[in-house]
Amino acid sequence: MSVREPQRFAACRNVGYHFVQANLLSALRDSMSRLEPWSSFLSSFSDPNAVARYAEGPVRQVPGFHGMQQMAALLLAESVPDDGQVLVLGAGGGLELKVFADAQAGWHFVGVDPSAEMLKLANLTLGPLASRVELHQGYIDTAPAGPFDGACCLLTLHFLAAEQRLHTLTELRRRLKPAAPLVVAHHSFPQAVAEKSRWLSRYAAFAAASGIPASDAKNAAAAISDRLPLLSPEQDVALLTEAGFDNVELFYAGFTFKGWVAYNPS
Ligand SMILES: C[S@@+](CC[C@H](N)C(=O)[O-])C[C@H]1O[C@@H](n2cnc3c(N)ncnc32)[C@H](O)[C@@H]1O
Repeated sequence: MSVREPQRFAACRNVGYHFVQANLLSALRDSMSRLEPWSSFLSSFSDPNAVARYAEGPVRQVPGFHGMQQMAALLLAESVPDDGQVLVLGAGGGLELKVFADAQAGWHFVGVDPSAEMLKLANLTLGPLASRVELHQGYIDTAPAGPFDGACCLLTLHFLAAEQRLHTLTELRRRLKPAAPLVVAHHSFPQAVAEKSRWLSRYAAFAAASGIPASDAKNAAAAISDRLPLLSPEQDVALLTEAGFDNVELFYAGFTFKGWVAYNPS
């Protein structure tokens, strides 16, 4: 795996691959995030035991997880050239990086994630494909300026409060070439009390039907409800638009999860 070294960061060798060290701002944000109600979710991405089991989770909690990843790859491929560069934010675990790299032999990737443990797992998941991936530890502000031919952010934006989500989307767009696509997917469902509860019950039912113990699935739904800074689909579309994206299209809906493709204006 190669690392292009942005001016502000020093690259360091770390058990066979490189990280670009997170800057102080990222560290500050990290410590601030510990004070937020969703910090317990984020801290699981730094727990080596939880991370070792990470790959088992999404397929049992996200209806149509593999199809959603495949659709993301196809949506990117509509615009990204054969030798294109793709920015993957929230790249920890490496699951979508592997799907994209397997699908497109000429694409190169920059993957950004604040969790060192999740980046280690990405490296393991990628195996030899890691030679086409540059991993950066940090947040969107750590990502190189690009411009990229496409970007994606899967199962990540629901951890970000509206203001940080808008900043993240705006900075993602600034790193895209004109007309380049962004693909996102995350929890996004109606937030009125009765509807919220109904959709979270459906989330828990899917997880239980996929092999997660029913009590764990119910607890996870309660934790999502209480601790994540959830938004409705209308709010998510409004944020994408406010961040400057055009032609925002829904491509995926799986109970509480929604996915959109949106484009940087030409
Ligand atoms: C549920 S995992 C999703 C990982 C991967 N995209 C997937 O679909 O398997 C969420 C990831 O988002 C990362 N994350 C949390 N806050 C973030 C932020 N503000 N910017 C980028 N990534 C973030 C976490 O460290 C974690 O690796």
